[in-house]
Amino acid sequence: MDELPLSAILPPSAPAFDPWLPNDDLLRVFDWRAIFGNANPVEIELGAGDGGFILEYAARHRQRNFVAVERLKGRVGKIAKRAAQRGLANLRALRLQAEYVIGRMCPPASVSVIHIMFPDPWPKRRHFKHRLIQPEFLAALRRALADGGTARFTTDHAEYFQWTQKIWSAAAGWKNLGAWDAAADPKSDFQRQFESEGKPSYRCQWQKI
Ligand SMILES: C[S@@+](CC[C@H](N)C(=O)[O-])C[C@H]1O[C@@H](n2cnc3c(N)ncnc32)[C@H](O)[C@@H]1O
Repeated sequence: MDELPLSAILPPSAPAFDPWLPNDDLLRVFDWRAIFGNANPVEIELGAGDGGFILEYAARHRQRNFVAVERLKGRVGKIAKRAAQRGLANLRALRLQAEYVIGRMCPPASVSVIHIMFPDPWPKRRHFKHRLIQPEFLAALRRALADGGTARFTTDHAEYFQWTQKIWSAAAGWKNLGAWDAAADPKSDFQRQFESEGKPSYRCQWQKI
């Protein structure tokens, strides 16, 4: 008997790509071209939450590749499921610590934009050490970015925003591009929540120079 073609066995909704980026090999350095099957620019969102921003952003920019990094399994699962449902072959979900991904797994000068939306602010002084934006982290971020690449930072927390401005200004090799016009950008889940409460957002874009 003739073998059935794969299309007759798989349900029509089966994704033609795996939206999960494996996290089991911690020594791996990502080969973006092999992962996405093209040489399009790569953008990363760190702490992507439920993916409200990145899913829509990736849908709007099919000629760019995206990686949603998030440490909570349930949230990464939601992103992967929705990416598959929406046929977003340009998006991968990765369950790992942002610092590790940026510091160890991204090849140098390989990422065009890094999005950081409403990271945990850790408002108590004794918890400042847990904040994502730290001098060592910015050095790693700069290494991962391509020349002229940018990091886009948004928070609802005024004091954390001031903290990041100080640390970023003191770090070598960055240019402050100020706030960008985000009016047409998709909103993240936390952004929707904060906006519904009438809270302002603070944003700044930093360019690798
Ligand atoms: C306040 S939420 C914001 C989520 C999303 N960016 C948004 O705006 O809706 C922060 C997210 O970052 C994740 N997170 C915190 N620290 C992280 C880290 N070091 N690496 C990866 N994800 C992290 C949390 O699990 C959480 O989902």
